[in-house]
Amino acid sequence: MSRAIARHEPKLKELFADCFQIGAAVNPRTIQSQEELLAYHFNSITAENEMKFASLQPEEGRFTFEDADAIVDFAKRHGMQVRGHTLVWHNQTTDWLFENRDGGLVGKETLYARMKEHIQTVVGRYKEHIYAWDVVNEVIADDRKQMLRESKWTEIAGMDFIAKAFELAHEADPKAQLFYNDYNESNPLKREKIYRLVQLLLEQGVPIHGIGLQAHWNLYDPSLEEIRAAIEKYASLGLQLQLTELDVSMFAFDDKRTDLKEAPAKLIELQAQRYEQMFRLLKEYKDVISAVTFWGAADDYTWLDDFPVRGRKNWPFLFDGQHQPKPAYYRVAEAAKSQK
Ligand code: GLA
Repeated sequence: MSRAIARHEPKLKELFADCFQIGAAVNPRTIQSQEELLAYHFNSITAENEMKFASLQPEEGRFTFEDADAIVDFAKRHGMQVRGHTLVWHNQTTDWLFENRDGGLVGKETLYARMKEHIQTVVGRYKEHIYAWDVVNEVIADDRKQMLRESKWTEIAGMDFIAKAFELAHEADPKAQLFYNDYNESNPLKREKIYRLVQLLLEQGVPIHGIGLQAHWNLYDPSLEEIRAAIEKYASLGLQLQLTELDVSMFAFDDKRTDLKEAPAKLIELQAQRYEQMFRLLKEYKDVISAVTFWGAADDYTWLDDFPVRGRKNWPFLFDGQHQPKPAYYRVAEAAKSQK
């Protein structure tokens, strides 16, 4: 149930109305538990898991749309946009897609036929309501020597499946904005590889319209300079950019501490400063950034609880566990109003 709170703070979606959309990832529970907050501040949503391959087609030919439909209905009810996430990924994709009856890998033709069926069915179903899709997610390797992550996709189809996915998505909905989406996107090494991949796709005439910067960031990383450099580099390809999965963890990546039951005032303040700096920077690039989507909405629910450190709570958002604005919210609101 949504809580009955009288809100007075300015709406994020209005504060940034002339910059970019403000989105949140949701799931079937949070569209209920966070309904009031979502409807008030956000004008776009993404399904956290419900539009991934394994959720939509757990067995060949058996599509399960119930949860995804409920999310799209929620968006319609509240006049929100929907970003689709995600068509091709190495995770949360069921094995049957890659396998034949005896468990061996299928050939490229079969894989492409299955891909086509999936993309046409899914993208076709939500044509009227989903304006953008993360077509391909996380194919670039973190390892410095390798370009592509090894997966069943690459094993069967080399790198061709990437272009193929965009072509199929474009065919299924010629109006949809199609994105390549990845994490560690501001890391200079990975940035160069993402750039090269997208550049290659553009040279081949592949229908790709945007780059999604997942933006799973923390208080210390990446630096503002790295974020700026990534935005500039990607924007130089002439595509639109979106932050697609923004959160700001209270912990450095290698920090394994588990002692905090509540967020300490010092970290809350650091997070507020960090969010303010980030949004000031994002505003500078409002002409190329079309949406900023948080990977959640308020600190009562985040995938970062228990990940990557078990038994640890995290507080990555602008709203606290009671859905009230945190200092970070007020600083972001100041950034929105500033003329600089
Ligand atoms: C990646 C995926 C998301 C989600 C997060 C973790 O960033 O793109 O869909 O699974 O990991 O929640």
